[in-house]
Amino acid sequence: MARSDGYTSFVNSGVGAKLATALGLPRPVPLRRHSPGAPLVDGPVLVGGHADTPAVAALRAGLTSAGATLTEVVPETGRLGGVVVDLTAAETPADLESLRATLAPALKRLGRCARVVVVGRDPRAASSVAQRAARRALEGITRSVAKELRNGATANLVLVDDGSEGAALGTVVFLLSARSAYVDGQVVRVGKGDDVAAPADPERPLDGKVAVVTGAARGIGADIARTLVRDGATVVCVDIPAAGAHLAAVANEVGGTAMQVDVTAADAGARILEHARTRHGGLDVVVHNAGITRDKLLANTDAERWASVLDVNLRSILAMNDTLLAKDGLRDGGRVVLVSSIAGIAGNRGQSSYAASKAGVIGLVDGYSTDRALSRRGITVNAVAPGFIETEMTAKVPLATREMGRRLNSLAQGGLPVDVAETIAYFAADEQSAVSGNVVRVCGQSLLGA
Ligand SMILES: NC(=O)c1ccc[n+]([C@@H]2O[C@H](COP(=O)([O-])OP(=O)(O)OC[C@H]3O[C@@H](n4cnc5c(N)ncnc54)[C@H](O)[C@@H]3O)[C@@H](O)[C@H]2O)c1
Repeated sequence: MARSDGYTSFVNSGVGAKLATALGLPRPVPLRRHSPGAPLVDGPVLVGGHADTPAVAALRAGLTSAGATLTEVVPETGRLGGVVVDLTAAETPADLESLRATLAPALKRLGRCARVVVVGRDPRAASSVAQRAARRALEGITRSVAKELRNGATANLVLVDDGSEGAALGTVVFLLSARSAYVDGQVVRVGKGDDVAAPADPERPLDGKVAVVTGAARGIGADIARTLVRDGATVVCVDIPAAGAHLAAVANEVGGTAMQVDVTAADAGARILEHARTRHGGLDVVVHNAGITRDKLLANTDAERWASVLDVNLRSILAMNDTLLAKDGLRDGGRVVLVSSIAGIAGNRGQSSYAASKAGVIGLVDGYSTDRALSRRGITVNAVAPGFIETEMTAKVPLATREMGRRLNSLAQGGLPVDVAETIAYFAADEQSAVSGNVVRVCGQSLLGA
């Protein structure tokens, strides 16, 4: 698996750095990624905002117990690891000045791979037009700041329901952490939810959980399996028989079980559920990651080619979920995470079948996450939409297109499979019980469909 692309290594070498500066070339920095035991952020976190609110009090307490050192002023020396700005009390556009006043001086003091997290309220729940405008403005500000940041720093927005401040802590911590290395310019909604206890062991938030990952033999799926296991889960690795040897190797590596199942088989859901029950006692997390591309212009796409993509990437999920999400399927408090793509948001020439399937996946998130029966059982449904990720799939893309995919984003580099896996693990944790219906792009703020 590619860990870093040649260009990034070159422009961070002595000669390459000078050349890149002289020519004004983008200079992507190696991103800080999670390693167990490492501090949450690299430096103190400035917490500020508009008025003293319940959100900011909950955040201060929670971030301190998560190990962050907080500050209320920009330090005169040293670098900030992050900035959290609470705008939940913003009533009118004039109140946005608080955001500018907090962020502007702090941005000049951010360290490498620092984090900006803006916290606000959902515009759709506003009680006046002025309030709605102020709330919506946060999205524009955050996305612009994300584009202005350098050195691997990111900016994201969390929209928190009134009274759900405690439930939002896990999301703010994720966005501050190195786990969100390639998540940039995103909006995450935290719905109604009570305070949730942080996991007993923050390094193992999935302790005792049983997860199934489809398409786990290689690429992103293999890293999802590794990451969920690292976080404490037992994983059932699913892939087609033709990938049996790789599948067995991944399952052995992570101490999970391997299942050779084609996800389009009519009994795929029943077999997976039966396996999880008999071998592991039940099922808590389903990650629908298996996916294929059969790229061609629509004008040249025949029915068979069209159907193969839709069958694997979309229809199989619907069919399996009929069984997996039935009353006797996924346990209460279960988590479903789907894998979409920025192609499903932006569309892509030659990818109409793939984009149809991946946009359809977003439709599944909308549909399942508003299903009352699932909500009553505490089941959440979210998706990741990866951008350009360094895998065997993207290694085959022609060089010029590959370089465009890598560079046309705010971090000027491709992401790694583990970046997608980290966001999936975040969705899967118990702590995220109020996070449902989100599609988070793991794309370094790709310009495609932004
Ligand atoms: N790589 C990227 O840049 C990127 C970007 C956006 C979205 N994605 C999505 O991420 C997911 C993983 O992508 P990847 O890059 O790791 O791809 P990959 O081709 O490396 O891996 C996909 C895996 O799915 C398995 N699979 C395919 N059909 C299956 C079936 N019918 N039943 C069971 N397993 C099946 C394959 O055998 C393979 O192991 C896919 O859904 C893909 O669409 C990838």
